[in-house]
Amino acid sequence: MCGIVAYIGPKDAYPILINGLYRLEYRGYDSAGIALLHDKKLSVYKTKGKVSELEEHLQGKNISGNIGIAHTRWATHGEPNDINAHPHSSESEDLAIIHNGIIENYLTLKEELMSRGHKFRSFTDTEVLINLIEDIQNNEKVDLPEAVRIALNQVIGAYAIVVISKHDPDILIAARKGSPLVIGLGKDDFYIASDATPIVEFTKNVVYLDDQELAIIRRNKDLKIKTIKNKDKTPYIQKLEMSLNALEKGGFEHFMLKEIYEQPRSIHDSFRGRLNASKGDVRVGGIIDYETKLINAKRIIIVACGTSWHAGLVGEYLIEDLARIPVEVEYASEFRYRNPVIYEDDVVIAISQSGETADTLAAIELARSKGATILGICNVVGSSIARATDAGTYTHAGPEIGVASTKAFTAQVTVLTLIALRLAKIKGTISTSRFFQIIHELEMIPDLIEKTLKVDPVVKEIAGKYKDVRNFLYLGRGYNFPVALEGALKLKEISYIHAEGYPAAEMKHGPIALIDEEMPVVFIAPNKGMYEKVISNIQEVKARKGKVIAVVTEGDTSVKKLADYCIEIPETEELLVPLVATIPLQLLSYHIAVMRNCNVDQPRNLAKSVTVE
Ligand code: G6P
Repeated sequence: MCGIVAYIGPKDAYPILINGLYRLEYRGYDSAGIALLHDKKLSVYKTKGKVSELEEHLQGKNISGNIGIAHTRWATHGEPNDINAHPHSSESEDLAIIHNGIIENYLTLKEELMSRGHKFRSFTDTEVLINLIEDIQNNEKVDLPEAVRIALNQVIGAYAIVVISKHDPDILIAARKGSPLVIGLGKDDFYIASDATPIVEFTKNVVYLDDQELAIIRRNKDLKIKTIKNKDKTPYIQKLEMSLNALEKGGFEHFMLKEIYEQPRSIHDSFRGRLNASKGDVRVGGIIDYETKLINAKRIIIVACGTSWHAGLVGEYLIEDLARIPVEVEYASEFRYRNPVIYEDDVVIAISQSGETADTLAAIELARSKGATILGICNVVGSSIARATDAGTYTHAGPEIGVASTKAFTAQVTVLTLIALRLAKIKGTISTSRFFQIIHELEMIPDLIEKTLKVDPVVKEIAGKYKDVRNFLYLGRGYNFPVALEGALKLKEISYIHAEGYPAAEMKHGPIALIDEEMPVVFIAPNKGMYEKVISNIQEVKARKGKVIAVVTEGDTSVKKLADYCIEIPETEELLVPLVATIPLQLLSYHIAVMRNCNVDQPRNLAKSVTVE
C-alpha cells in the first residue's frame, strides 16, 4: 500500500526512481508520480494507473536531475486520478512531498489554512501537509527541516514523508510515524524508500527511521537524525540481508507462482537452525527469554489479519493440542475496538508477513497498554511490528512480492509448529517418542512439498473445468478448517470468484442450501483425524449433485469413489497436513486467475501491506 522512493547523489535520479517504483509495485497502488529537481526547476509528473503508464507519460519530457522523489499511491482520501496522485506540490510549487499514511486532522488543518487564504488543488490530506510546511516556512522564517519538524508536531495520524525544495538541490527531508521508512547509505549518495526493495541493489547499509524521527539528508554530508521534539539521535546502521535475486521472477511467469514453488526452500529456511531432528532439539531463539512466561500464561491471544489470521488459527490448534495452553485467535481490527479483557499474564502473539499492518499494530498497542507481554511473528526484518513487540521471531520466508500470500503462510505455520513443540516439550505435555516422531516428520516437509508440487498439471486441468463458475465452497475439519478458509481467500483475492471456507460439519447449518450441480466444493480430506466424518460430508454434497474436488492422501480409495476430481498429497502427521494441503489450493487459485486473465500479482483493490485501518 503506497510506496516511496527518493534519491540524492551524483547519479541520474530518474532510472533509480522509476526502477524503484517498479520494485514497489507489489505493495498495491492505483497511481504513480515523480518529482525531479534540475537547474532550479522542480518538475512534477504524475498519472493514474501503472508505473508503465507513468513511464510512457514521461517520454520526451525533461527527466534530468540527480535529486528526486517518487511515489505509488493507493487511494484513501480522494479517488485515484492524476490530481490526487503524489507528489503534491505546495501552493507556490516551490516544495513537493510524497506521503504514505493518513493525516487524521487534515480537515481542521485545511480549514485553518484556507481561512488564511491558501488554495488547494486536490482532496488529499497530503496537500494539506505540504501547504502547512510552506506556511510555517514563510510565516516563521525558519529553514525547511525546521518547518517540517514544526508541521509534524501539529499532525495527528500516520506518515512516512519525503520533502524536496526547489530552492535547495542539496537536501531531502524524510520523516516517519507509523509508516515505515528506510534510508540506504551509498558511497556518496542516499536512497530513501518505504521498504528496502528499491535500495538493495545499491547498498546493504541502511538506517530504519523510528517513529517521530526526522532525517535531514544533505548531499555529501553525514545523515542527520532528530526527533520531531528536536532531540538529536545517532543513526543506527544495519546490514540488509535481502538479495536482489529474491526480488526477481527467476523465470516464472508470476511472482505468486515463483513463491508457491519456493516453499520447500522457504519452509526449510523457517526451521533452519531451530530444528535439530537427530538431537531431538527445537528452539526458537527470539522467544527463548519468554518461554516461562508462555507456559505460565493464562492465555495466549493471537492477533492478525487476512492470511496471517488463518496461520494463527492453525497455531491455536497446534498450541492447544500439543502444549495445552488456551489460545484465542482474534482479528486485529476487531480486537482493537471491542474493549477486550486482557490480563497482565496474557501473552499476545502478533502475526504479520509485512510487519506493517495498521490494525495489527494498533492491537499490539492496546495489549501493551493493559500490561500483556507481546511477541511477534513477522517476515519482514526490521518492520514496525517486529520493532513494536517485546520479542519475537522472523519467519525467514524471504521477500514475498505477490499480493496473495503463499510462502509467508506456510512459513508462519512452520514457526507456530516449532513454538507449539517447544512449549509442549518444556511443559511436559508431549511424550519423548511423540515429540521425536513429529519433528522427524516436520524435517521431511520440504521434500513432501516438493512432491506435492508435482500435482500442478492435475490442478491446472481442474482449474480449466471450473474457471467460469461464480461460487466455490471450501470445506475441512480440525487442522484443515483453517486450510479451507485460506484456500477460499486465495481464490477470492486473485480470481474474483466468490468463495467461502467452512468447517465441513457446519455445511448443514446453511451453506448446504447453495449446493446444486453448478457448485464446486473443495474438500480437504486426508486420511487423518475426522476422515470418516468428512466422507459423510462429501456424500451430503454428492446427494445434492454438487461437484466435489477433494485433496486426499496418496493411495486413497474411499474418497476417490465419490469425488469428481482428486488431488493426491503425500501422507504426513495430521497436525502437519496444513503445510502440504495448502499447496494444491494455492495452485488452483493461481491457475484459475491466470485463465480468467486476472492480474495475479497485483489483484484489483488489494494491497500487500495495509498501512491504513
Ligand atoms: C493484506 C494482504 C493479505 C494479508 C493481510 C495481512 O490484506 O493482501 O495477503 O494476509 O494484508 O497482512 P500481514 O502483512 O499483516 O500478514
